[in-house]
Amino acid sequence: MLRQPSPFLSLDRRSLLRGALGAGVIGALPARAAEPSGVAFKSDPFTLGVASGDPAPDGFVLWTRLAPEPLKARGGMSSQPVEVSVEIADDPAMTRIVRTVSEIARLELAHSVHAEIEGLAPGRDYFYRFRAGGAESPIGRARTLPAAGDSLSQIRFAAAGCQRWEDGYYTAWRAIADDKLDFVFHYGDYIYEYAHTEVTGRDKQPAPRTMPADFPACFTLTDYRRRYALYKTDADLQAAHASCPFLPSFDDHEFANNWAADSDPKRTPADAFLFRRAMALQAWYEHMPVRRAQLPRGPDVRAYRGFRFGSLLDVAVLDTRQYRSRQPCGDGFLAGCAEADDESRTMLGSAQEQWLAERLKQGKATWQVLAQQVMFAQFDWRGFPFVKETAAPIIDLDTWNGATAGRARVTAMLEAAGIANPVVLTGDLHRALAMELRRDWRDPASPCFGVEFLSTSISSFGDGPATDADRATMLRNNPHVKFFSDKRGYTRHTVTPAQWQADFRTVDSTATPGQPVRTAQTLVVEAGRPGLISR
Ligand SMILES: [Fe+2]
Repeated sequence: MLRQPSPFLSLDRRSLLRGALGAGVIGALPARAAEPSGVAFKSDPFTLGVASGDPAPDGFVLWTRLAPEPLKARGGMSSQPVEVSVEIADDPAMTRIVRTVSEIARLELAHSVHAEIEGLAPGRDYFYRFRAGGAESPIGRARTLPAAGDSLSQIRFAAAGCQRWEDGYYTAWRAIADDKLDFVFHYGDYIYEYAHTEVTGRDKQPAPRTMPADFPACFTLTDYRRRYALYKTDADLQAAHASCPFLPSFDDHEFANNWAADSDPKRTPADAFLFRRAMALQAWYEHMPVRRAQLPRGPDVRAYRGFRFGSLLDVAVLDTRQYRSRQPCGDGFLAGCAEADDESRTMLGSAQEQWLAERLKQGKATWQVLAQQVMFAQFDWRGFPFVKETAAPIIDLDTWNGATAGRARVTAMLEAAGIANPVVLTGDLHRALAMELRRDWRDPASPCFGVEFLSTSISSFGDGPATDADRATMLRNNPHVKFFSDKRGYTRHTVTPAQWQADFRTVDSTATPGQPVRTAQTLVVEAGRPGLISR
């Protein structure tokens, strides 16, 4: 069932470890160390839940991590490898088991399991659970992709991210679990690397949750592992993961605020930063349901990849951090930065740009999605209280507005591929926005060539004030904005051959658990007619 040699081998593939993996991150282990122990856990090892991800038409990745004491450095585990069995059934009660596979969880990767399942039927639900040392995990639901070219009547998914733990409860994740979706696109900021002492939330409100006092800013592998473990103990987040497959990506806070390629805002020497990046990346891999193709090699990972949902929807998950040009003009929200328009600037890097161009050319689906992290549309921040009043537009240089030539190349790709319905999915800003993409963003008569749905945060920024923008000023300066909200929540998308419907879901408050989640606004795009219609 394995596509390529793996560091988490099934028992019958153990001999491959010493051969093919040789020069990898893990390196060769002595044969004896590969033997699993007859482990008996004193307490539940499945404290971090289960997850599925990166579906294919015949399978998906099934994830868990053994951690009976999740906040401890090793999760309460010894250095012994542990055999974990994975059962897959075609019914929610797990009465009809269709597959059982065996994996080895190793301390080298924090006793995480990434079982790549193949040979299943396309376009249908499966259910799964893990067993280890007599313990049994909760049951999760996964779903295979439809067969290539299948015509589908509907796909429902959520786009979500930015979930700073201290800033609020994960009520939005519970709502996503209740939605019973086909998948979730996670745009990043799964964790925040800050120390427990750093000011949290918007307007320095009291934090609804506090991290343990021994949680410093994340720099080491242990720091990052403990941070993921803390976040993943949340029952609402676990429920969302157990409800459907995720397509994980990452943004800046899985590593360090506003990092770019081999640099961070503190001007850490590149060599030193790359060690931090490697540790952050390893912890990301250990905690995400992604494939061995996403196994890091030192500080590098291939995180951009694509998913085709029959003839209805193509999703390109992009990486806007690893290959980008460093933010121009010293980063920030600035008026006037000529460097942002330099021809050499990029958000994707040339290899990813080429991959995307090829993929778009081959894309036959009705809807083509760029699932990524930072704002693609032009946007003027005048009207927000944290920026100065200026005569010229204020630009966020950490977004595609800081690499306008890179944006123009992607726009040209969409045009060259004849894409009638590009949809850009974004996060990052802790506010929700729906925008029309126009050649001339200030001219409502300029042709609209696509739309961007920017999801608000699950929890980051906390509840905040009733509004954080002078809306009249913001809308006057940004006529392409058709919806704005500064509440917490997520975006739920319902895609059919005739239309794309985006429901902007907001949580009344993240300061206490269990608050209502509402649809603040629904916007629709008709197939073949780019532009937003409010419903
Ligand atoms: Fe964020």
